[in-house]
Parts: sequence; structure tokens; C-alpha cells
Amino acid sequence: MENQYVMVIDQGTTSTRVVLYDHEGMIVEISQLACPTIRRHTGWVEHDANQIWQDTKWLMQDVLTRAEIQANAIKAIGITNQRETTVIWDKETGQPVSFAIGWQSTQSEKITQKIKQRNITELLHTKTGLWLDSYFSATKVLWAFDEIEDLRLKAANGQVLFGTMDTWLLWQLTKGQVHGTDVSNASRTMMFNIHTLQWDDDVLEQLKIPRQILPDVYNSADDFGCTELNGVKIPITAIAGDQQAALFGHQAFEVGAVKSTYGTGAFMMMNTGKTAQESKHGLLTTIAYGIHGEVTYALEGSIFSAGSAIQWLKDEMQLIDNAQASSDMAYRSRAAAHQQIYLVPAFTGLGAPHWQESARGAAFGITRMTNDADVVRATVESLAFQTRDILEAMQKDTGIALSQLVIDGGVSANDYLHEFLADLLQMKVSRPINLEMTSLGIAFLAGLQSGYWPAQNELPINQAMIHIKQHADSEHMMQKNYLGWQKAVKTVSVFP
Ligand code: G3P
Repeated sequence: MENQYVMVIDQGTTSTRVVLYDHEGMIVEISQLACPTIRRHTGWVEHDANQIWQDTKWLMQDVLTRAEIQANAIKAIGITNQRETTVIWDKETGQPVSFAIGWQSTQSEKITQKIKQRNITELLHTKTGLWLDSYFSATKVLWAFDEIEDLRLKAANGQVLFGTMDTWLLWQLTKGQVHGTDVSNASRTMMFNIHTLQWDDDVLEQLKIPRQILPDVYNSADDFGCTELNGVKIPITAIAGDQQAALFGHQAFEVGAVKSTYGTGAFMMMNTGKTAQESKHGLLTTIAYGIHGEVTYALEGSIFSAGSAIQWLKDEMQLIDNAQASSDMAYRSRAAAHQQIYLVPAFTGLGAPHWQESARGAAFGITRMTNDADVVRATVESLAFQTRDILEAMQKDTGIALSQLVIDGGVSANDYLHEFLADLLQMKVSRPINLEMTSLGIAFLAGLQSGYWPAQNELPINQAMIHIKQHADSEHMMQKNYLGWQKAVKTVSVFP
């Protein structure tokens, strides 16, 4: 049958996936490959952009094979991606000039510090909604200009192109025909004016980044050109950053609706509608999505280490064999708890609301009795503590007292985390059975643009949720624990 499914390319930090969705918003098939990380120096997190493109092509074929369908069964394609990660490539050869610089990578930290001394932080914040940090693409571009021979000159001559992962994949999928991105991804580069919805000339002038390397900016649901799959032309009809796509997947369309996604990092986002709400408490103002030339804004709190902290427990500390074990061990530790220990996973600095890029991780409260399960529990709990930091900032910024939270992303399958979040936040916390809100969200956007679904209010209703409420007697204890966490974070922020 023709035009039966929407295909999603979900290019994340730890994996690349291709997912097929049907008209009920259900996953029909999924194919996935790990996205390897290259760590040339401490704090550097890079990827091989060519490899990611090769993997994406392979996954698109593989998902068809698994589903036993032909390419003409695909109505439209949507792309969602790890944001900020920076690729620069040669316009002629299509070859990246170096590895893709990951969003977590801190190699542009010194450049960021230098820019801070120039007193343009406020200008950058007002125009882009972001706080100056090596997290965002602009300083990564400047790092590449400084480090790669002749790159600045080539950029000035228009010989190279810049893009986040969506732009790189779109350019490849359209055989170099379309150099584009969407408003949500553009809003994470620190070069895009979130009010005028244009690349900002002042910012580009201040940073000395030539306009011609930047992609054209589209709506999130838009016509991005076509790709050819086994001789069939398929339209690409949506692009959005993964966190924004997850917001859309939750159908968090109302002003004040909030979600928190636990992937490699964790990202809480509140829909603020047509208002670009400025944060006075360390959050980011960002674009959630653009449809028909109208943008919806969001407030965002970005936590740099979530799933990556669980992965650290497995790969470097070798305390667990798989992510699920972290939940079991955390319960075991709590059962025997006689102490409160804190682990602050500031492996690549601290994001919102602290913005301390030179901070590094630490553990507090360790005694002679502390064991592996306690360290695992402290690490899992750190995800919840960081969430509360963001939630408090969000409530202060908006004056909206939140009474419930929806979560998603692979790490939210951790039952201990889910339960602990409910206690710590003192509210109902719900997670959908389908944790893939990111891919669902981009499927919705691609489906809306291509006419697969007629309108936003006719999208299929999200599936069942698992709800957990706080324990009735948990408030006092959690308040005490949270005060301990705040002290720990403060200490990390001033060290070294
Ligand atoms: O801003 C970075 C974010 O988009 C990465 O998301 O899911 O790969 O942790 P994730």
C-alpha cells in the first residue's frame, strides 16, 4: 500500500534511529545503531559526521526490510536531532573539515571565556535567548576557525557550509540541493535572533562569523525538498530539535504545559505560547516549533548529564551491567539507607540554572560504609535533584505553580528515578508507555505538513501513561535531602 507510514530519522547523541509510524501514532518498526563518541581530549565529545550519514542511509533501508514494505509506503520523512552539535563541510567535496563538535564538548571553553570579557553576554542573551556557553554552536564554529588551517578564509569565501545534524543530514538526503534548518534548531546556535526569526547581523558581526555559511531557516513543519529512496521520491516535511519534538510528541500545546526528557542529557521545557518569556533564573528562551510562519516559544532548562551519568556507572565505574540495573541497585541502597550521599555529575560542567562550564563532578557524604549501590543511587537521584533545580527556576520565572510533570526518554524507564522524582517534586509524575516522544513529535509534524494528519487537533491521542504520586509522608525528608543537594552543587560550582 502506498503512503501508509511516516518515517522518522532521530539522530541522537548516543544512537541514530529510524522509526516508522502509522496513522494511529503507533510505532510499526524501528531500526537503531549506536552513535559512537570520539574523545580525543578530556571534555571533548565529537562524532564522525560521515559515519552518521552512512548509518542513517543503512537504517532507512533496514527499517523497510524489517517492516517488509517498499519505499512508496512512506508518505513523508521527518528529521529530529541532537541540537547544537556542529558540522562544517566543504561545499564542493561534501567532506566535513573535522569531526562534528558535540553539544557537550567543552573545547571552546577558552573562547567562551574571552567573549565573556567583551561584555556582549547581555546582547547575545537578549537576541538569542541563550546564556553564553560552549554548549551552543557559535563558539564551536569559532573554535574550528581557530584550529583548522584556512577555515576562516574558506568560510569568508563561501567555500564551506555550517550546520547542526539536521542540516547535515538534509543536505546529504537532498544530494546537496538544500542547505536548510528549522527555527527550533536555529534557535540553539547563538546566532539566530529569536524575535526577528533571522540570523542576527549584529551577533554575526560581533563574533565574526560570515552569513554565507549558515543554512536557510524554515518552519519546523515545512517543505524541505525530497530524497530518493530506492528510486522513489519522498518529501522531507519536518525538522525539529529533539527536545522540541518531544514537547510536540506530548501534545503539550497549551501555554504552561511542561515535559522533561531524559536522554543523554535531560531537558525540561515549558510551552510559553507566543511569548518569548525572558528568564531571570538561568533558563533559556528558545523556539519550540514553527508552523505556517508562526512560532511557539518555550522556556528550557538543560541538564548536561543524565543518561550519560548512568552510562558512566556502567562503562567507566563498572558498577552495573545495564541501565535497568541502576534502578534495582538504587532500590537496594535505599532499603539499607543510613546516610545521604550526593553525586554531582558535572562531567562537562553544569548547565541550567547554574551555567558553570568549568565545574567538574564530585561526590559528598561518603563514609566507610558507602558501597557500590549507594553510589548508583546517588547518581540516579542526581537526575531528579537537577530536575528540581530547573523546576524551581521555571516556577519563579513564570509564576506558574506546577502540579504535575510528564517525563519521557529512555532513562525515564528507570522506576527508581520515576518514584524519586514524584517524592522530590511533591507532585504526580507520569510517563507514557511509548517513551519515544521525540520521534512521535517529529512524525506528527511531518504528518501534518504532508496531509497524513489533517490538523493538530486531529492527531491521534497519546497512549496510556504510568502515573506515580508522591508518598504521603515524604515531604519533610525530601526537603532535607534537597537542601543537602543545593550545598553540594554550590561547592562544585566554586571548585577548582
Ligand atoms: O541539546 C542537546 C540535546 O538535544 C541532546 O539530546 O537526547 O541526545 O540527550 P539527547
